[in-house]
Amino acid sequence: MKVSIIGAGNVGSLTAMRIAGEGLGDVLLIDVVKGLACGKAMDLDDARPILRHNYNIKGSDDIRLVKGSDIVVVTAGLARKPGMTREELLAKNAQILKDVCLNVKELAKDAIVVIVTNPLDIMTLYALKITGFKPQKLFGMGISLDVARFTNLVAQELGLLCTDIEALVIGGHGEGMMPLPGFTKVKGVALDEFMDEDKVSSLVSRTIGRGAEIVANLGTGSAFFAPSAAIAEIVRTIAKDEKRIIGLCSYLNGEYGINDTCTGVPCRLGKKGIEKVIELELSQDEKTKLHKSATLVAQAAAQLLT
Ligand code: LAC
Repeated sequence: MKVSIIGAGNVGSLTAMRIAGEGLGDVLLIDVVKGLACGKAMDLDDARPILRHNYNIKGSDDIRLVKGSDIVVVTAGLARKPGMTREELLAKNAQILKDVCLNVKELAKDAIVVIVTNPLDIMTLYALKITGFKPQKLFGMGISLDVARFTNLVAQELGLLCTDIEALVIGGHGEGMMPLPGFTKVKGVALDEFMDEDKVSSLVSRTIGRGAEIVANLGTGSAFFAPSAAIAEIVRTIAKDEKRIIGLCSYLNGEYGINDTCTGVPCRLGKKGIEKVIELELSQDEKTKLHKSATLVAQAAAQLLT
């Protein structure tokens, strides 16, 4: 299995470290900045004797090395600065993504492509449109990270283990994010048995704002530990054909009554990519919100394509 990671910033390099460390495949780290990916790959390589792990990692500024990849993770792009929304990155990151995706199309047309660049949902739809790749094989990382954040905040609040919480988030990985407390369970018991409505809604708000809260604390750059863990989970699920249900930014063509756009929904993932979009029984309110955010994604992507 050859896994290429485009973009050797914090998210890309930590993803490379996790994937190599788990032995999920040969890892290639690419960045346009001369020497950056190469230097980081050399550094990761030097850790092998200490870790007693002969993983294979290479770094380069030459995107042609992506040829023949089985999985390509696209993290390239600018990160948010404090006070910015993910959506404000649109124009600059679209140009970067276009260059990368057209190269991937030429060099690794059979690869499964995972988009991480923000604003994630718009970038995923845009990448699908410019490459013509099948939606099963090109999707975004998105809400698996937001599910982790919601889970963590609920676990913290209740003083319980994260593994006892099963949280659910759908919608955009951005302003259209929809944590779903009604689908969130603590060992099978509804969340509202454990806390009042105000507490639930404050955890929902914190989940939506979690990325921005981290950006504000960091001062420069955005989160990378949890995002890289979420990407590694996706790569592991594909590489091992685990068929897990993971929140991904998927193209929808009729599911949830939504057409020709991308948003975050639970998906069954395996070695061929998305095998099934899981449809939840949403309330009318939730449906309306999901439609609205998916429509905004379609409009923004259409503008990029004109
Ligand atoms: C975040 C960025 C990666 O949510 O979108 O932290």
